[in-house]
Amino acid sequence: MYRAVLLAAGLSAFSSATAAKLEIFSWWSGDEAPALRALLRLYQQKYPDVSVNNATVSGGAGTNAKAVLKTRMLGGTPPDSFQAHAGQELIGTWVVANRMEDLSSLFKSEGWTKAFPADVVKLISSKGGIWSVPVNVHRSNVMWYNPAKLRAWGVTVPKTWPEFLTTCTALKAKGVAAPLVVGENWTQQHLWENVMVGTLGADGWNNLWSGKLKFTDPKVVGAFTTFGKVMDCTNKDASGLSWQQASDRIVDGAGAFNIMGDWAAGYFSNTRYLLPNTGFGWTTAPGTEGLFVMLADSFGLPKGAKHRTEAVDWLKLLGSRQGQDTFNPLKGSIAARLDSDIRRYSTYSRSAATDWKKDKIIGSMTHGAVAPESFTSAFGAVIDQFVANKNAQSAAAAAQQLADKAGLGK
Ligand code: GAL
Repeated sequence: MYRAVLLAAGLSAFSSATAAKLEIFSWWSGDEAPALRALLRLYQQKYPDVSVNNATVSGGAGTNAKAVLKTRMLGGTPPDSFQAHAGQELIGTWVVANRMEDLSSLFKSEGWTKAFPADVVKLISSKGGIWSVPVNVHRSNVMWYNPAKLRAWGVTVPKTWPEFLTTCTALKAKGVAAPLVVGENWTQQHLWENVMVGTLGADGWNNLWSGKLKFTDPKVVGAFTTFGKVMDCTNKDASGLSWQQASDRIVDGAGAFNIMGDWAAGYFSNTRYLLPNTGFGWTTAPGTEGLFVMLADSFGLPKGAKHRTEAVDWLKLLGSRQGQDTFNPLKGSIAARLDSDIRRYSTYSRSAATDWKKDKIIGSMTHGAVAPESFTSAFGAVIDQFVANKNAQSAAAAAQQLADKAGLGK
């Protein structure tokens, strides 16, 4: 008996030491989880012996997850693979700190340098290396609404920000207290980027990040002023709302519009079970027609990952056609790959895929594509201050200080 217990204990210690495991780290929990869960199911079908730990830290745009990741990376206990936005969010942090493995050879063996658009590969490359595998392409510049409600209020979708302000006045006169719904700080940054792009245009936006256009330029100060007027059209309880709660207000008719990335399409369809064009409607954010403000979620391989083989298999799956066409129809995004099967996607995603091919592509600041992480992580405080005092000059000066510190244009 004693011997049998010892033997059993020994066996289980042996199996836990050798069992294949994989820890995936992301902020896709709760309402945001269905797409990731589908991808993990596919992984489990292919690798049934691997025990997968789906480690999530909830909070839209990764605000909480990024802080936890930092503690783990600096503490020497990285997850096997973690979510990070393609672009500066990963490159400006863990790549410059030499904490990531170069995935160039994986890109070569999987044929990914051709499978993904050249611009996407460029976004995830630096210093001769390729640093993460993009699982999708999301669009930031979408304005969502409830078609039946707009009809009832007798308003149409505004095409420019000045037009939006006129619509806002009309809606307020009809008793709609918050014509535009917004949520916690990062969703306000998301709105800010859309007001900037819609006011400055693609070149102006790109010039901000290359340092050619100063935040203190009268055009940018003017765009801040417009952003202030837009914020006057929003709900007063913004800071306490998640992006999902803000989306709910559109569905429920408490507000008319919401500017949010197209993960909202995934939420409307797969959590609220609404149909595109009837349950929810969309258009490009004011002033951004013909522009596609993009961001991509990607996964990387930190140096020192405990389960490297399993993590590489995970990366192979999420970069594959099957992986991307399993994940993205549920997520609201389109595949980053060029060969995805569009028949599997919703009406909304088909429209995004068409625009992705013909629009001018620019990158999102809020979601890690264009600005150095040192800028993005500090910019939330500028927005908070501006929302409190609406002083466009001082917000522009503070943003320029961040830009100088981050070395934009150097
Ligand atoms: C973005 C991310 C999306 C979605 C969204 C809301 O930053 O790229 O995939 O998760 O945040 O949390």
